[in-house]
Amino acid sequence: MTTIQSADGVAPIHPAADDPDALLAVNDLKVHFPIRRGIFFKRQVGAVKAVDGVSFSVRPGETLGLVGESGCGKTTTGRAITRLIDPTSGSIRFEGQEVARLGRSQMRPLRRQMQMIFQDPYSSLNPRHPIGTIVGAPFRIQGVEPEGGVKKAVQTLLERVGLNPEHYNRYPHEFSGGQRQRIGLARALALQPKLIVCDEPVSALDVSVQAQVVNLMEDLQDEFHLAYVFVAHDLSVVRHIADRVAVMYLGHVMELTDRDVLYTEPMHPYTHALMSAVPVPDPAKENRRERILLKGDLPSPINPPSGCVFHTRCAKYREVLSDAEKERCRGEVPVLETKRPGHFVACHYPEARQDIALAEDAGVEGETVA
Ligand SMILES: Nc1ncnc2c1ncn2[C@@H]1O[C@H](COP(=O)(O)OP(=O)(O)O)[C@@H](O)[C@H]1O
Ligand code: SF4
Ligand SMILES: [Mg+2]
Repeated sequence: MTTIQSADGVAPIHPAADDPDALLAVNDLKVHFPIRRGIFFKRQVGAVKAVDGVSFSVRPGETLGLVGESGCGKTTTGRAITRLIDPTSGSIRFEGQEVARLGRSQMRPLRRQMQMIFQDPYSSLNPRHPIGTIVGAPFRIQGVEPEGGVKKAVQTLLERVGLNPEHYNRYPHEFSGGQRQRIGLARALALQPKLIVCDEPVSALDVSVQAQVVNLMEDLQDEFHLAYVFVAHDLSVVRHIADRVAVMYLGHVMELTDRDVLYTEPMHPYTHALMSAVPVPDPAKENRRERILLKGDLPSPINPPSGCVFHTRCAKYREVLSDAEKERCRGEVPVLETKRPGHFVACHYPEARQDIALAEDAGVEGETVA
């Protein structure tokens, strides 16, 4: 294995980050939030292991879906990549440059290349500023004088995201949720970044508006050759937009592969469980489909389960594995490994999707297969 500098010294490159075409390569990223107690909170008594060794790459112009239940560390991953927060350890390379340890001023030129948009566009837009000021802020912060002036550039951006450029002087509260997300997109696009981390950009919007915003994002991606890290809490949203999908659970990537492969041949029991929760439009199929229930709540990232962090909720562990196999799940952390070219899975006993397809064809109903 090749070695690279990471924030905590020299770390081997994980295969999922070892991508010669990568625009962004994230290698063994950890973000632990210290829990402090005592007088003046000086004593650290533990840590929230929000992100605990995540590796993936994003190629230019690609959309990587980052999916997992609420609390699994998606937002923290996004904020660490864009360096809104400091990683605890690991490496983040952007166009080959290590950025995990850059300070504020060193990050400034990179801010132009990497942007983030947020789930709640209202709270991320300053309510006291007209949208012209909001969308034009990146020019001022970066000291960039666009051709024709900031006002003209802002109006061009507003038009490009489907807003009326005459509404330059209106305030965020005068816009609908979908329009506010468009404003966020216009601001993110101002400096022509190469990557935008989109944190559940449509989760707070009405279903009817979601598709419009996703379509706009796809158009912008083609036009500006943007790469997206698209964060979502279920698999149905990213199904349309992602080229590849990384499935996260409790601070770890459980499975990472091409979109079509993930949806037709998922190998990780957690992906199977998520998949069985996605509604199927065809009611006949819906009846035959087995539902794999995710029992119990997400365990605390302060004190995650031993071995495979998913073992406390894994249907395969619960219903299929022998005692010896279970012992391995509890005792040994499964590494995110290449099971087939480009298909990474972190599980000691992964599934092949064909098993489920066969069971469905044979008319097996209501059985838990994963
Ligand atoms: N600043 C913080 N301090 C302490 N814990 C945090 C902080 N931010 C997030 N967490 C915790 O880290 C875990 C992952 O959070 P988050 O990245 O927001 O997950 P997601 O976006 O997948 O819902 C959660 O348990 C959350 O409570
Ligand atoms: S390693 Fe074991 S507990 Fe973890 S997902 Fe695989 S089968 Fe389930
Ligand atoms: Mg989040």
